[in-house]
Amino acid sequence: MRILSGIQPSGALHIGNYFGMMRPALELQDKGEAFYFIADLHSMTSLFDAEERRRNTLDVALDFLACGLDPARTVFFKQSDVPEVPELMWILSTVTPMGLLERCHSYKDKKAKLAQDDLERVNHGLFAYPVLMAADILIYDSNLVPVGKDQKQHIEVTRDLAQKFNHLYGETFVLPEPLIREEVAVVPGIDGQKMSKSLGNTIEIFGEEKAMARKIMSIVTDSRSPAEPKPDAEKNTALILLKLVAPPEVARDYEERLRAGGLGYRELKQALFEHYWNYFAPARARRAELAKNLDYVQQVLREGAEKARAQASKVLLRAKQACGLI
Ligand code: TRP
Repeated sequence: MRILSGIQPSGALHIGNYFGMMRPALELQDKGEAFYFIADLHSMTSLFDAEERRRNTLDVALDFLACGLDPARTVFFKQSDVPEVPELMWILSTVTPMGLLERCHSYKDKKAKLAQDDLERVNHGLFAYPVLMAADILIYDSNLVPVGKDQKQHIEVTRDLAQKFNHLYGETFVLPEPLIREEVAVVPGIDGQKMSKSLGNTIEIFGEEKAMARKIMSIVTDSRSPAEPKPDAEKNTALILLKLVAPPEVARDYEERLRAGGLGYRELKQALFEHYWNYFAPARARRAELAKNLDYVQQVLREGAEKARAQASKVLLRAKQACGLI
């Protein structure tokens, strides 16, 4: 079974990304042949700073390798290193009805957000985004595509395009299945809302120690005194985060103390910081090592691209033959 997913290089990853997307993706490495890539071509639809793209791409690569992406098992690469993908995108675009793309929520949302101040940014890449994504998926004969809920429609578009092409030109593409993370456990940010880069409420996986301590100590709490019992302890942001990074019995102990009264928020946040810091300590050490050895990181991505291209060129050839380009 081939598992494929892409992540946009949009800056330092936070613990919401880690528990919501990275950890499940890393666990899937055992379940099949995983192909994970950094979607730098997709990032071009909304990021227009070359240096930032370069830095973000390297950061994502370091973050994933440090957190346990195993290049011996998983094909890890940069999207733009596989030129077969944009070639297939053109082919797919000719079987893509305009209306299908016009109905995409993600496009409509981005367009609505941009239109008021900057119509020029509603670029063709933003519109064609799902076609590039379909090419990403179909070119590796992917069976399973783990994504967040917001990408579900894009997988449906992918299946539509594959079926249209297969119907017109004969069986060519494998139909992928989405694996949707329902995000049962939404990770709250320091303001209690869902942790998200755009809300500015994140705790980075590999943030600097003092800055992260400051963020954690600034988690929003109410004004009840330490002595007061907190029957709604399970709603406490610091406790929800503590449950993710501390051993279960430790988290349970804090929860009981918070519920009973006598545990102050300050002490709880201090405990959270310590457990957060220890939880990511091994990954942090690996990341520091990798950062000193960027040649190795580049080599992993190069070798990944080679393996990816070997697959991609086969499927592209199949598609070109099917539609009469060859
Ligand atoms: N659009 C995806 C996101 O923003 C990233 C992505 C690009 C992707 N190509 C993909 C995900 C192919 C899965 C499969 O999350």
